[in-house]
Amino acid sequence: MRTRWFIGLLVASVIAGAGSSGYAQDRMDGLRDEGGRVYARYCVGCHGEQGDGQGPAASMLIVKPRDFTSGVFKFRSTPSGSLPTDEDLYKIITRGVYRTSMPDWGLLPERERVALVEYLKAFYPRWGERGAGTPIFIPPPPSSLGAPASVERGHELFELLECTACHGEDGRGGGPAAKTLDPDVWGNPQKPFDFTKGRLKGGPTVQDVYRTFMTGIDGTAMPSYGDIFAEPDDEYIYEGDAWNLVAYILSLRKEP
Ligand code: HEC
Ligand code: HEC
Repeated sequence: MRTRWFIGLLVASVIAGAGSSGYAQDRMDGLRDEGGRVYARYCVGCHGEQGDGQGPAASMLIVKPRDFTSGVFKFRSTPSGSLPTDEDLYKIITRGVYRTSMPDWGLLPERERVALVEYLKAFYPRWGERGAGTPIFIPPPPSSLGAPASVERGHELFELLECTACHGEDGRGGGPAAKTLDPDVWGNPQKPFDFTKGRLKGGPTVQDVYRTFMTGIDGTAMPSYGDIFAEPDDEYIYEGDAWNLVAYILSLRKEP
């Protein structure tokens, strides 16, 4: 179902982009207007009328609502520094962001969530010009994922790559660099995650964890390790090593 919508939209935006069809443009404008109505109803309280994250509730929240006008997004399938795809935005709206006040909107009709995606993109004036990044390739996880040897190798990598500096030796987020982190690009304090409890913010699947450290969490201190894993040298980094790191991170979880 969802795919159908995305294909429809893709076609509509290509036609609208070429400027050859008033109909497609009208359709896109209509969708954006609808997104505006849904946004005014459910999102302004936190993200603000201007999409700058300054809604009336923002001052009461510890993790601040995203400012959509800056063109910086945390949850992307695309490389660090690029814009997310429509589907990335759709997914996060549908699922919400665990550990924060960002609710899941999976109960809204599909069409409204698609309309919201269009509306959010319009807050950032350079969206059309820059366009979304290309999603990274995620190979299928090996069947040995989670086996003791894989977890052990992941532990080695966690130290070798100095994830420990921020996330700590025990993965609880209390590494030596954790207290010295500057505020994130939106000016809010930041904290490396404790991997031992709670749901992962970036999503629950092994692919979500893989994607998070390959693309980084833009706007925060969490770097992208895509370049390091892209060039395995069989001395420090082996082919397929990234999955071992996933195995280790997931092995740290003590409670669901
Ligand atoms: C109760 C407050 C609240 C409401 C209501 C809310 N959000 Fe959020 N939203 C947040 C917070 C807080 C974050 C930041 C999470 C983070 O930084 O980890 C966020 C993040 C997001 C992101 C992720 C952006 C990124 O960096 O990848 C999107 C997309 C988003 N919100 C869309 C919406 C939409 C659309 C609505 C309305 C349907 C909405 N939000 C309603 C609090 C809210
Ligand atoms: C310089 C500090 C720093 C280093 C080094 C670092 N991280 Fe992070 N990491 C963070 C911060 C800060 C966050 C939280 C970002 C946010 O606010 O959403 C984070 C979040 C994450 C998440 C997201 C968890 C979730 O809930 O989805 C994963 C996965 C992660 N880090 C893995 C790693 C791995 C693996 C390494 C090493 C290869 C690493 N990090 C190195 C600072 C760091």
